[in-house]
Amino acid sequence: MTAPDPAADAAAPAPAIVLGIETSFDETAAAVNSGPTDDLSSVVSSQVDLHARYGGVVPEIASRAHVELLTPVVAQAVVEAGLSNHDVEAVAATAGPGLIGALLVGVSAAKSLALVWDVPFVAVNHLEAHLYSSFLEEPDLDLPVVVLLVSGGHTLLVLMEEFGRYRLIGQTLDDAAGEAFDKVARFMDLGYPGGPIIDRLAMDGDPQAVAFPRPMRDQGYDFSFSGLKTAVVNHVRNNPGLDAADVAASFQEAVVDVLIHKARKAAETHRAKGLCLAGGVAANSSLRERMLDVCTAAGISGFLPSRAMCTDNAAMVAAAGWQRLQLDGPSPLDAGADPNLALPFLAGAEPAV
Ligand code: KG4
Ligand code: ZN
Repeated sequence: MTAPDPAADAAAPAPAIVLGIETSFDETAAAVNSGPTDDLSSVVSSQVDLHARYGGVVPEIASRAHVELLTPVVAQAVVEAGLSNHDVEAVAATAGPGLIGALLVGVSAAKSLALVWDVPFVAVNHLEAHLYSSFLEEPDLDLPVVVLLVSGGHTLLVLMEEFGRYRLIGQTLDDAAGEAFDKVARFMDLGYPGGPIIDRLAMDGDPQAVAFPRPMRDQGYDFSFSGLKTAVVNHVRNNPGLDAADVAASFQEAVVDVLIHKARKAAETHRAKGLCLAGGVAANSSLRERMLDVCTAAGISGFLPSRAMCTDNAAMVAAAGWQRLQLDGPSPLDAGADPNLALPFLAGAEPAV
C-alpha cells in the first residue's frame, strides 16, 4: 500500500464532497457532506436489537454486524445524496476512540474505497466529530463555545476556540453520564440502551421523589457518576416498593442537575459566546429542556443539535473529516485505528476573567 504524499495532496484544491463512515460502537453509519456543514445524506443502521438481549454491546457481534451492514449503508448514503461513487472526493472514517474490531471495519473500508476511487482518506477522532455536530445545523455559531459532550464513554466540558483548538475544562473521574444511565437501567431490568428508556420512563415519574446525591456539583468542573449509580442501587434495594418511574425521574434529575450546573458555570467563567450539547445523552429530554431554560436565564446562547446528530452518526464524521483535511491534509493509508484515541487539548483552560 503506498501512502499518498500529504504535502502534494494538501496543495490540491479542497475536496468538497466527503463520504463519512462511523463504526466505532454499535451504529453502522455513512453520510455524504458537501463542505463542512451541508449534509446531503445521513444513514444510520442501529444494531440495538442485536445487543439488547445481552444487556450491552458485545464487541464481536458489533464487528460482524458492521461488516455485513457497512456496504449497503454506504451505497444508500451515496444514492440518498443524489450522487454516484465517482462524485465522492474524500473518504473520512472514525479511527477512535471505540471498540477496536468495530473501528477496524470502518477504517479498512474507508481506506479501500479511497484507494479504489483514488481520493484522499482522512482519519477522524470520534470525540472531535461529536464536538463538531452543533456546527452541522448551526454553521454560523460564534466561537468560542463551551461544549458539554456527554456520551456512553465520555463526559467532557470543552472550550472550543476554533476547529482543532480545544481546551479541556472538566471530565468525568469515573463513569460517563451515558454509562450511568445504562448501568442504572440494567440494574432496574429496564432494557438496553438505558438512556432513552429512562428518559421515557421518567416522563411519568416525580423528579423530586428521591433526593439522590449530586456528586461534586459544587466542586470544580470534573464529574463523578459512579457514586450516584451506587446510591440508586442501594436505595432501590432498601425500598423495593418504589415506583420505577419515580426512581428514573429522580436519578435523571440528579444527573441533569450536575451537568447543567457545571456547563453553565463553565460558559460564564470562560465568557463563551454559546453553550452546545453533544453526544448521545444530549438527546435526553430533561437535559435539553433544562439547558434551554438555563441559557435563557443566564443570557447565554444555547444550541441543541437535533437528536439524530447527538447520537452516533456519520454526518458529524464527514464534517470533522472535511475540517481535518483543510488543517492537516489526508491521513496516510498506514494510519491505524486506536481504541483509546485522545483529543489533542491545548494546555490549560484558564477563566477569561
Ligand atoms: O454518543 P453515543 O451515541 O455513543 C457513544 O459515543 O458513546 O451515546 C450513547 C449513550 C448511551 O449511553 C445511551 O444510553 C445514551 O447515550 N443516550 C441517552 C439518551 N439517548 C441516548 N441518555 C439519556 N437520555 C437519552 N434520551
Ligand atoms: Zn459517540
